[in-house]
Amino acid sequence: MKKITIAANWKMYLDEVSSIDFIDKLNAEKELFINKDIILFPSHACIRSVKDHLNIDLKIGMQDCDIHNKGAYTGSTSIGSIDIHSCIVGHSERRIIYKENNDVIAGKLGTVLSSKVDPILCIGETLQEKNDNLTESIIDSQISILPKDLNGRKLTIAYEPVWAIGSGDVPSNEYIHQMLSYIKNRLKSLYSDTDLNNIKLFYGGSVDANNLQDLISVELIDGFLIGSASANFEKFKDIVKQIKL
Ligand code: 13P
Repeated sequence: MKKITIAANWKMYLDEVSSIDFIDKLNAEKELFINKDIILFPSHACIRSVKDHLNIDLKIGMQDCDIHNKGAYTGSTSIGSIDIHSCIVGHSERRIIYKENNDVIAGKLGTVLSSKVDPILCIGETLQEKNDNLTESIIDSQISILPKDLNGRKLTIAYEPVWAIGSGDVPSNEYIHQMLSYIKNRLKSLYSDTDLNNIKLFYGGSVDANNLQDLISVELIDGFLIGSASANFEKFKDIVKQIKL
């Protein structure tokens, strides 16, 4: 059976005190988390504290990064600023709230790929785009920024329909399967089998302990990118409990 990854995007939900409190609770029940494929994405300012407090070996990632590696970019964070496993780029909150277009996201993806950090590229349509039957063309344009070949690098594509994020409105398994199949077929037309083996597909959008089991049955899902339910320790624990070793 494939190993499902749980990627916890804490967004800006937890400050330093609550991030440490979360990690203290996790340490206290660490048997539950050992040997599971978990990536925690604290806010940038809390990554150091989370790393310092963790008593088990979990992966840590950044929720976003700057295109540049160094320089006069006030308030921004470079991919090399701290040792991490993965970095999210193109999250819909970055696309919509911070007006990051495909060019910016392509730049960030390139920056991550030129470091040793594994990228997670988020894609997905808004409700308006879905209603206008634009989903496939939106996905096409969002994946058009992928490099020609991966040169052995790992890549995760997280399909997160914008209308499912934070709404409790989870698409049907059929819908998710249909979209992931579409994405997979597009990837097949772009990449060699070797590269395809290095690509994982995640689903994100209102995932919680109540719908996880059902969603796991979607064959093409390798993992979940989870927002609000991952930032509450009890809810996160209930999610992780359901993941088989
Ligand atoms: P929610 O799980 O809160 O819907 O957020 C999903 C998400 O945006 C993960 O990146």
